[in-house]
Amino acid sequence: MARANKSTTVDTVLERLQGRSIVMVGLMGAGKTTIGRRLAQRLGLPFADADKEIEIAAGKTVQEIFEDHGEAYFRSGEARVISRLLDGKQKVLATGGGAFMDPGTRAIIEQKAVSVWLSGDLALLMKRVRRKSHRPLLKTADPEAVMRELIETRYPTYALANHTIESRDVPHACIVDDVVSALAERQSK
Ligand code: S3P
Repeated sequence: MARANKSTTVDTVLERLQGRSIVMVGLMGAGKTTIGRRLAQRLGLPFADADKEIEIAAGKTVQEIFEDHGEAYFRSGEARVISRLLDGKQKVLATGGGAFMDPGTRAIIEQKAVSVWLSGDLALLMKRVRRKSHRPLLKTADPEAVMRELIETRYPTYALANHTIESRDVPHACIVDDVVSALAERQSK
């Protein structure tokens, strides 16, 4: 019975998407890649990670792109890659934390996809980003201050996403459940 309900919900989500992709947005550490990948599995859709695709296209890591060419260069590549990925097959796409902040990229996402913001408080995000050291924006003396400022400046824009889901310290499947329910039930903005 539970299984039948789950597949009915998945069918509802796919019907509502009408072929559009799902784009995960949010700050570093929100879980866009982890949850996006599992969401894709749940829905039977392919998954792509914009940062990974940028790295493949550039033949360099995100960190190397920032170091060798600067952030503006990274942002223009990011916009191109996201646009290309959203022109392709329906998928779940995880984007880097700055992607939705770029008005051009945001317009493409609004036009071609349904966006899901994974929000989260500073303590949760810090706990997660501390584990990994590859993020160029956090290579500073006070990464927590950077994250605090990014929460202040970016959250009002992230809130423009079609759906908002609170990222929490619970099993990934619970967050995926929340996203699936939101996509199946709620009217999007
Ligand atoms: C960035 C977030 C990173 C990556 C780049 C810039 C940002 O992605 O795109 O380092 O501006 O917030 P994640 O959010 O996946 O860490």
